[in-house]
Amino acid sequence: MIGANLVIAPSILSADFARLGEEVRDVVAAGADWVHVDVMDGHFVPNLTIGPDVLRAIRKWTDRPMDVHLMIAPVDPYLEAFAQAGADLITVHVESGPHVHRSLQRVRALGKKVGVTLNPGTPVSALEAVIGLVDLVLVMSVNPGFGGQTFIPEAIGRVRAIRDMAGDRPLRVQVDGGVNPDNVGLLTAAGADAVVAGSAVFRGGRQAYAGNISALRRSAEQGRRAYAPPLPED
Ligand code: DX5
Ligand code: ZN
Repeated sequence: MIGANLVIAPSILSADFARLGEEVRDVVAAGADWVHVDVMDGHFVPNLTIGPDVLRAIRKWTDRPMDVHLMIAPVDPYLEAFAQAGADLITVHVESGPHVHRSLQRVRALGKKVGVTLNPGTPVSALEAVIGLVDLVLVMSVNPGFGGQTFIPEAIGRVRAIRDMAGDRPLRVQVDGGVNPDNVGLLTAAGADAVVAGSAVFRGGRQAYAGNISALRRSAEQGRRAYAPPLPED
């Protein structure tokens, strides 16, 4: 079941890290629904970003949900720290360890919304055993590690497959990587109801944020109107 409202979650990976608090404030004022926080460990992905202390610091700059995307392995030892630092939703990769089921249960036990995600090379079937545990599935449309990469179009079909797998469940399907006003409508038409965008939101400086978010929202809403759930089988 698709969400009643579309969620746009700017990724602060593309923000000015020297002014992260102000950037969070400005992007929320410009119309962000959630704030997407990319956590990388230089091991699961070939880049390093931020940890729980930075999350705690930026948490003070907004009341909007903090959408924390953990690209770290192992992940379990850090779940509590991110929960305590102010995450509202914690998304874990199915590839981050052998016990993703346990990791998702831990996030739930910590009282947070539960997200699961999968890399572009991982079959969608990897979700079958855990889809009942989560509030959100994140479809990666780039190989995680860096902002500003090119969108992988196979993500569109994967969104459709996951939306079909979700059936009547009230589950968000989110997409992350290379999302822009040209492709976002194809994603929402396939059943995505949450989108992450880094470069497409933060390009042009703070004066451009509101226009960038509106452009995304306009195309995304257009796609949503074209979304059609699968026909019932005989
Ligand atoms: C990629 C991150 C994404 C990324 C989005 O590893 O998870 O959130 O920064 O940035 P753009 O929209 O620039 O691809
Ligand atoms: Zn992300």
